Amino acid sequence: MSFFPASRTGSPSVSRRNFMRFASMVAAGTALPFADPFTERTLAQIPTLKHAPPPDAVLINLNENPMGPAPEALEAAYAATRNGGRYQDIQHAHLKQALADREGLKPDYVQEFAGSSDALLRIVLAFTSPSRPLIVGDPTFEAAEKTARLAGAPVIRVPLTKTYAFDVKAMVAASPNAGLYYIVSPNNPTGTVTPLADVKWLLENKPKGSIVLLDEAYIHIAKDGGEPASGLVAADKDIIVLRTFSKIYGLAGLRAGAAFARPDLLDKIRIYSSFLMPASGMAAAVASLNSKGLVEQRRTTITNIREDVLSFLEKQNTPYIPNSQANCFMFDAKRPGGEVIEALQEQKVYVGRAWPIYPTYVRVTVGTKEDMEKFKAAFVKVTT
Ligand SMILES: Cc1ncc(COP(=O)(O)O)c(C=O)c1O
Repeated sequence: MSFFPASRTGSPSVSRRNFMRFASMVAAGTALPFADPFTERTLAQIPTLKHAPPPDAVLINLNENPMGPAPEALEAAYAATRNGGRYQDIQHAHLKQALADREGLKPDYVQEFAGSSDALLRIVLAFTSPSRPLIVGDPTFEAAEKTARLAGAPVIRVPLTKTYAFDVKAMVAASPNAGLYYIVSPNNPTGTVTPLADVKWLLENKPKGSIVLLDEAYIHIAKDGGEPASGLVAADKDIIVLRTFSKIYGLAGLRAGAAFARPDLLDKIRIYSSFLMPASGMAAAVASLNSKGLVEQRRTTITNIREDVLSFLEKQNTPYIPNSQANCFMFDAKRPGGEVIEALQEQKVYVGRAWPIYPTYVRVTVGTKEDMEKFKAAFVKVTT
């Protein structure tokens, strides 16, 4: 008998025996076999990842944080799973309060989510429609655009400015009846910042009824922690600010994030329950917020490693997009990005993707010092 039903897409079901084998391997800390066809096919959906990477691969492709969860976050997550049989109303309240205190917001201006992607998709579905387009910068993180297209909402891409900021003036000019403006600052993939003054200008000049979604996934890595926009939320502006624990806090797999906005806007993205997070993710998030000096230490580490690789690229006469303030950057491969991505994979170095607007530029995540030394060696091999 199968343990899980076969999905409607025809994915193979997981037999009880396989599940038990998988569970005992996880318990024993054994490396999981990546060769099964289900995993291979799932991984192949990640752009540029045709095969499961070998165990000794350098993974600088998904803007993850190789430092992972802080030790106190790991301990808290482990302890929290003991109470996993219960709904987590008190833990939700703790996380909400912890975030509200840090941002200077009332708790009902905070909705916690299992990562920011869930919130992002709900926001696009709530504020765009076939008659209310989504306006995005180009290049940027594609999840908002993909969701809008699925829902039949038009998408207008507006190229970044010469300084790689979101071009808020061109975004407003793009449509008189925009539903949602998606701004990512620092941006994925360029790492560049859009000044808060531009976001304020957008709020003052956008069409009535539209909403600004400001995705601050990488804000903690920005210089001095960036210019947080919580004040605009507290002032009841038409803005939703999105945060994640996947980047500086290293909780991508534990899933924790939050949206900050006026309660009437948050009500539009809570369909039934507001208990949207697992016990482990919430406990890890609260422990991470309480970890003294964690953000500053990690920001310094990431910044130093990033700047070291960028000066290496300079010495190699390789152009890159300047002023990244995130854990990623883009370099110019001077040939179709896909070619250099594949060549680097042959050296067991897995970098990110290219965007159609900059077809020769490739995104690279800032990994550990050791990861980046391997990246440099592979780069020299495939480009000379
Ligand atoms: C700009 C941006 N927003 C949101 C996400 C989604 O992050 P998560 O769902 O892990 O919080 C990412 C992930 O790379 C991202 O780059």
